Amino acid sequence: MQRNAAKPKFVIEHLEQDIGKWLLYECMYASKIVGKGRLIFANVKKESAKAKLSTFGTVEEKSAKEIFSSEKVIILDPKAKDPLKPEDFIGKEAIIIGGILGDHPPKGRTGKLLTEHFPKATVRNIGRAQFSIDGTIYVAKLVGEGTPLEKIPIKKGLTLRLNKYAEVYLPYAYPLKDGKPVICQKLVAYLCSDEIVENEEKLLRA
Ligand SMILES: C[S@@+](CC[C@H](N)C(=O)[O-])C[C@H]1O[C@@H](n2cnc3c(N)ncnc32)[C@H](O)[C@@H]1O
Repeated sequence: MQRNAAKPKFVIEHLEQDIGKWLLYECMYASKIVGKGRLIFANVKKESAKAKLSTFGTVEEKSAKEIFSSEKVIILDPKAKDPLKPEDFIGKEAIIIGGILGDHPPKGRTGKLLTEHFPKATVRNIGRAQFSIDGTIYVAKLVGEGTPLEKIPIKKGLTLRLNKYAEVYLPYAYPLKDGKPVICQKLVAYLCSDEIVENEEKLLRA
C-alpha cells in the first residue's frame, strides 16, 4: 500500500429531493467519522441544502462525475460484484457513496443513480446487506486504513426501544465499534420521537 499518498476524499453524492433530518443526521455523523476536511457533498443544487450541509464538509453544486475522473474513484454499490479491499484505494482520489436513504427492500437505486454514470470506476460492495450512509463511510475508512472487510464486525437489524410497549426496527446493517452499533445518537433520539412520523411522511408526499 502507498502509505504516503494523499488520502482519498469521501464524497456523498446528493441524490434525494430534499434533506430531511434523517439524512442530515447521517451526513453529520459521516463528518464526525472522517473529518470535515475529508468530506465532500456533491450534486447539491438547492441553497437550503447547501446551508444545511456546509457545516459538515465542502459543498459542491457539480456532480462527482464533473469533479473526478471515473478511473480515479471507487463507487460503493451494494450490487457490485467484488468486495472492497485496502489495495483498491491505491491511486484513487475519491470514494463515492450514494446520498440515498435506505429502502426496504433495496431498490437498487445506487446502480441507476450513481454507478451507471461512472463507466470506468472501481465499483465495490462492503457486503450484501444495506448499510446507512455513515455506517458505509465508517467501514470504508477502516478498509482504506488497511483493515480487511471480513475483520469488521457488523450487526444486521437494529431494534430501538421507545418505551415498555413499543419499538422501532431498522432493517439495515450496522458496523460495530467496541461492540456497539455505529449510529448517530441524534438520529436515535429522532427515531424515538413523535416528530419523525410527521416529518418523514411529509417528505414522502413531496
Ligand atoms: C442507505 S444506502 C441506499 C441504498 C439504496 N437503497 C439502493 O438500493 O441502492 C446509501 C449508500 O450507502 C452505500 N452502501 C450501503 N450499503 C452498501 C453495501 N453493502 N455495499 C456498498 N455500498 C453500500 C451506497 O453507496 C448507497 O448508495
